[in-house]
Amino acid sequence: MPDRNAVRIESWAAGDLPLLELLLGDPAMMEHLGGPESRDQLVERQQRYEQIGDLGTGRMFKIIDEASGEAVGSVGYWDREWGGETVYETGWSVIPAFQGRGIAGAGTALVIDAARAEGTHRFMYAYPSVDNPPSNAICRTLGFTLLEARVFEYPPGHPMQCNVWRLDLFATD
Ligand SMILES: CC(C)(COP(=O)(O)OP(=O)(O)OC[C@H]1O[C@@H](n2cnc3c(N)ncnc32)[C@H](O)[C@@H]1OP(=O)(O)O)[C@@H](O)C(=O)NCCC(=O)NCCS
Repeated sequence: MPDRNAVRIESWAAGDLPLLELLLGDPAMMEHLGGPESRDQLVERQQRYEQIGDLGTGRMFKIIDEASGEAVGSVGYWDREWGGETVYETGWSVIPAFQGRGIAGAGTALVIDAARAEGTHRFMYAYPSVDNPPSNAICRTLGFTLLEARVFEYPPGHPMQCNVWRLDLFATD
């Protein structure tokens, strides 16, 4: 299991746009996600991330690497409709220089703890591309169940074959 102590998560805040630019403005980072976002898209996303906690429809966090003290990634969960009910979707991202050290896995483990403690929705879903081995490994390791593969349009107009992973936040085992 990932080492939760290797990282901490802090609420996304004003001033975190430069981190978003490193994560979602970088073509290499967005290979599986339809390409880099434009400056306007990033500014709009920054506002969404700052406000989501107040709206009560999820939480976005930055992942801080405890060893260096640097903010190196994002992780969070947000409401979506799936199978006729409101569920959480989760997603994560870590800058290239800090990948391969268990940081995304540890940050996601902390976010699952937070969503479970909230007790709002039973199910959390993740939809990584079938071509994204680390993200699929994170789902498997953290106890998600693989339900199916499906084509999603993300972003709109960009079809992508994704795995549908589900975690039962109310399970007690
Ligand atoms: C996906 C991403 C967040 C992974 O970040 P990371 O911090 O390097 O991930 P971790 O070090 O926590 O590794 C996660 C798991 O993937 C495994 N892994 C890493 N690289 C792998 C590879 N090339 N092939 C297979 N497994 C791999 C690790 O061994 C680990 O497995 P474990 O949980 O069973 O130990 C990062 O690559 C990224 O930001 N990519 C671009 C954005 C993106 O694709 N986001 C995900 C959208 S769903």
